[in-house]
Amino acid sequence: MSAILNTYNRKKISFKRGKGSFLYATNGKKYLDFVQGIAVNCLGHSNDYLNRAILNQSKKLWHVSNAFTIPEQEKLARKLKQKTFADFIFFQNSGAEATEAAIKFARRYFYSRGQKRKNRVLCINNSFHGRTLATIFASNSKKATEGFYPRVDGFDHFNFGDHKALEKAITNRTAAIMVETILGEGGIKVIPDFCLKGLRKLCNKKKILLILDEVQCGIGRSGKFFAFEYAKIKPDIVPIAKGIGGGFPIGAVLVNKKVASGMKPGTHGSTFGGNPLAMSAGNAVMDVMFKKGFLSNVKKNGEYFINELNKIREKYPKIIKEVRGKGLLIGLCLQKDQTKFINKLLDNNLLSIRAAENVVRLLPPLNVTKKEINLALKILNKVCENYR
Ligand SMILES: Cc1ncc(COP(=O)(O)O)c(C=O)c1O
Repeated sequence: MSAILNTYNRKKISFKRGKGSFLYATNGKKYLDFVQGIAVNCLGHSNDYLNRAILNQSKKLWHVSNAFTIPEQEKLARKLKQKTFADFIFFQNSGAEATEAAIKFARRYFYSRGQKRKNRVLCINNSFHGRTLATIFASNSKKATEGFYPRVDGFDHFNFGDHKALEKAITNRTAAIMVETILGEGGIKVIPDFCLKGLRKLCNKKKILLILDEVQCGIGRSGKFFAFEYAKIKPDIVPIAKGIGGGFPIGAVLVNKKVASGMKPGTHGSTFGGNPLAMSAGNAVMDVMFKKGFLSNVKKNGEYFINELNKIREKYPKIIKEVRGKGLLIGLCLQKDQTKFINKLLDNNLLSIRAAENVVRLLPPLNVTKKEINLALKILNKVCENYR
């Protein structure tokens, strides 16, 4: 019997090595990995550039406290600042920590301006911002909150797409609206560009902050560095994680000058966040991601994949209801529960992962080749053809 706490329905399969889009299992089989640690390994497994960066740094220095200046951290912050809306960056270790810090920064901004009661955050029901006590009650799904009451206060909610309810839920105590630009765990639901533009306008009108959670959809996954770039808007706060470390645990919060003005030494901190080893991974990921043509290739491959998946949906409408997503953040929304479908893909050596609303998520590495996408399409066609 395993000594691991029983919080996952784990598949009885283990891997001994990975390279690019493929995983090699202890059972001798080779799998096409379209999970990639759930949108984490953006450069695939065992990427040579990333390996070298971490190896070189590991020989020099792993960890020092944030009580000292960390040049590798300064470097990654500068890169993120150069390439995005952000003026300042705070580093952490995971997505939930980043979203929770985003909430803290929003509250602190109004506190520092003397608006101490302006501290509530408005979120979408059944979204996903992490597993800490605060973030489960921000996400507000029954699955994540059951058994974990009392409720952490400070969050209000509206349903995805319900613009009227959103406007109605804003009060003089609302500090921020926090949404995932593309809902990941919630079923790969893309917030349309016109809604994102509307959100920005609404936040400006009500003088509240806009937090866009790009933990899953950010760092190139959508075909742009941030998914909100399609809508040509600038949020105030953006938590990131997953892809930024390419497999090394990194979280971060990007903020503009306005939000940064609420923070001062002692208001927030992290023991591990932004240590030299983690930052070597983040810097390497940024180097690759901003090479000419990398992001446009993600977009092109994503469009090709989604287009071809729609052809499969047209052939098998009784199995696949809808193809959702942007770039290489893709969901197949099935007509019925997706468990059997995911297992059939696994039997055919393609790894995928579930999301809410009967969705099968396909998350290849961002440097996936067209040949590998075609292999996945072949397997998907075969599984649909023989699906009973
Ligand atoms: C949008 C979003 N926010 C936050 C999180 C939490 O990230 P982590 O699991 O690294 O704490 C996730 C994880 O899936 C996520 O998808």
